[in-house]
Amino acid sequence: MQENLKEIEKNALAELESVQDEGALDKWRVTHLGRSSAVMQVFAGLGSLSKEERPVAGQQANQVKQALEKALAEKTGEVKQAALQQSLAAERLDVTLPGRPCRRGRLHPATANLRRILGILAGMGFQVYTSRDVESDEYNFQLLNIPPHHPAREMQDTFYIDSHVEDGTYATVLRTHTSPGQIRAMREFSSANPQNPPPIRVALPGMVYRFEQITFRSEMQFYQVEGLAVGETITFGDLKGTLLEFARRMFGREARFRFRADHFPFTEPSAEMDVECYVCGGKGCPVCKKSGWLEILGCGMVHPAVLENGGYDPRRFSGFAFGMGTERQLMLRYKINDIRHFWGNDIRFLEQF
Ligand code: PHE
Repeated sequence: MQENLKEIEKNALAELESVQDEGALDKWRVTHLGRSSAVMQVFAGLGSLSKEERPVAGQQANQVKQALEKALAEKTGEVKQAALQQSLAAERLDVTLPGRPCRRGRLHPATANLRRILGILAGMGFQVYTSRDVESDEYNFQLLNIPPHHPAREMQDTFYIDSHVEDGTYATVLRTHTSPGQIRAMREFSSANPQNPPPIRVALPGMVYRFEQITFRSEMQFYQVEGLAVGETITFGDLKGTLLEFARRMFGREARFRFRADHFPFTEPSAEMDVECYVCGGKGCPVCKKSGWLEILGCGMVHPAVLENGGYDPRRFSGFAFGMGTERQLMLRYKINDIRHFWGNDIRFLEQF
């Protein structure tokens, strides 16, 4: 009997050695400590032993059973610990792995350029004034000294968005330039104090629309920035000085500029400002069409009739105005050869800026 129990213990413990996981552990427990296990059989057989043998055998069987239970407890601890270590190793975070970058948004190049222009003008004391995109024929043309059948209307093909085209008076249009904002700004400022209207220095940014065939060089919408200054002592010298300073901040101190006489119905005298071609340095190239100069804006002294329409007495006040298209600057700077890229919303184009 004694031999038998030793053998049982030895076998069970040997088998326990090779147990690796909780499943095997459970199986071992059933086999070696369960109801039909060898030790339990010994207990069951105690009754058939003699009175003397019984307590000795019972005690020994108990010892074996306790030894097996102790070994089981220890092994359970080990197996659990090993499982924990394993899962910790498998789930470990490698904090040194490079992160997954998230794609960042950015400003549209035309927006960024617009902001740059407005930043420069703001730095020179111009207040940003936002006017409307949908205008009346009156504001877009008539109040700017362009009466119904004036030939200047043909310079700007217009989107008319209602049916009163023939008489012109009540027609609604998409603004063809930011200049109607001049009238709106002047009227807003002058209506506050008609007897003594305040001086004005505003910058008017916005989208303008023209009924054009879309090609690589003409779009039916583009940004303009308008500038307007009205005061009691404003001269053409102020216009030139302001625009030169603006252009130097925009294109660099070394850039060269020139003014050329031009015509607009709402300014008198009128001029156009050119920058020396920054592609060829003035030598003449395809970009400047061999002239050495690039046109950047139209400008002039505000026409007396326009001042009057804005509520400013032209005998007391004078002013200057200028207007520029902004995408063209980018096209020249970045050698963009097709204006349709700007509103084509192709991410591959936009992401280059
Ligand atoms: N409105 C003119 C254009 O669209 C530009 C301009 C603005 C000219 C102000 C003179 C004064 O071409």
